[in-house]
Amino acid sequence: MSPPAPVRVGVIGAGLMGREAASAFGRWFALLDCPVRPELTAVCDVQAAALDWFRQVPSVRHFETDHRALLARPDVDVVYAAVPHDRHEEVCVEALRAGKDLLAEKPFGIDLDAARRIRAEAVRLGRFVRVSSEFPFLPGAQRAFRMASSGELGRLIEVRSAFLHSSDLDPAKPINWKRQSAHCGEAGVMNDLGLHVAHIPLRLGWRPSRLYATLQKVYRSRPDGRGGTAPCDTWENAVLHATVDIAGEPVPMTLEMKRAAPTETNTWVFEAMGTERGVRYSTKEPKTLCTYRRAKEQLWERTDLGFDMPFRAITGGIFEPGFPDILMQMWAAFLSERAGLLNGRFACATPDEAVAQHELWSAALRSQREQSVVSL
Ligand SMILES: NC(=O)c1ccc[n+]([C@@H]2O[C@H](COP(=O)([O-])OP(=O)(O)OC[C@H]3O[C@@H](n4cnc5c(N)ncnc54)[C@H](O)[C@@H]3O)[C@@H](O)[C@H]2O)c1
Repeated sequence: MSPPAPVRVGVIGAGLMGREAASAFGRWFALLDCPVRPELTAVCDVQAAALDWFRQVPSVRHFETDHRALLARPDVDVVYAAVPHDRHEEVCVEALRAGKDLLAEKPFGIDLDAARRIRAEAVRLGRFVRVSSEFPFLPGAQRAFRMASSGELGRLIEVRSAFLHSSDLDPAKPINWKRQSAHCGEAGVMNDLGLHVAHIPLRLGWRPSRLYATLQKVYRSRPDGRGGTAPCDTWENAVLHATVDIAGEPVPMTLEMKRAAPTETNTWVFEAMGTERGVRYSTKEPKTLCTYRRAKEQLWERTDLGFDMPFRAITGGIFEPGFPDILMQMWAAFLSERAGLLNGRFACATPDEAVAQHELWSAALRSQREQSVVSL
């Protein structure tokens, strides 16, 4: 029997993430049990120069500077929308109307209303849509998720989910679209880093019933890259103190998203403590899963994890995974679920989860504005 035809992918937005997708597809043969194969056939960016890097990718046949030209191509089955947040709605909705399935980059629209409109269009047209969030595919995150969903933690006492960068601590870093509300969205860092923090709690059904937010702007202006300065008007750090009602009991859940977190480069943290067990995983120590078990003496146990990914790979079982690996796993989950072949593996974030995260960020903005606790 001949292997199934590849899924033809068109990338819209040939920047950081567009290139990461091409790189993931380029070594697809590293996966041993993914039933579907992508082929990058088309790429689009409004800046023609951004397309040049893709000329070394042999499968790319179409280089476009208008996303509508890419969407008109019949040899594109799936669109990866990796554009700035203010372009999400237009690109995603038009991709759906052009008959394409969609992997949308987070945050899935610049705000809650945009996210709801993209979701509504996907439902109306019956398209397969998922949203990018790759950190849950790390072995440590998978183990933490399984422990939290199994009930073995006992009664939940507290939860912390965080994603921390320090890149914005440098005041000399030139402004870009992620630091401007008009392009990144009013929610700022929550739009930028929030789905990474919300994905696992939402998948576990831990939806806050109320929250209080502390949002911070650290630098109000930045170099504009042309010798002057430009206003930097986005929220750079956000700490949300939320309450989740689990089995009739209130559980505190802290969601932290920071672009000005000293000493942190790209630190993803998930921690859940219960009466029986606890689990903590941080990419600061990417191999190490910390677990706690209630006993007479209380201590953390540390387990070294290997390459225990949802999709098996040629990579040695004791080797460490990194960002390119989890991105590939996420794409494998997207393509497999689209084909109905996920077989119980962890699934990508759904439009409902993306809308639910925007509900949190909207509530956080209101909490900050009114200096109040907001009910959801
Ligand atoms: N999943 C992750 O870990 C992760 C990491 C970084 C960024 N992102 C997300 O990916 C998306 C893109 O971010 P990035 O870091 O790749 O940005 P980027 O600035 O590196 O690239 C965006 C590209 O989109 C192009 N573009 C803008 N408008 C366009 C349009 N209408 N049509 C075609 N191209 C257009 C720009 O010219 C640019 O080259 C954002 O939604 C961001 O939040 C996700």
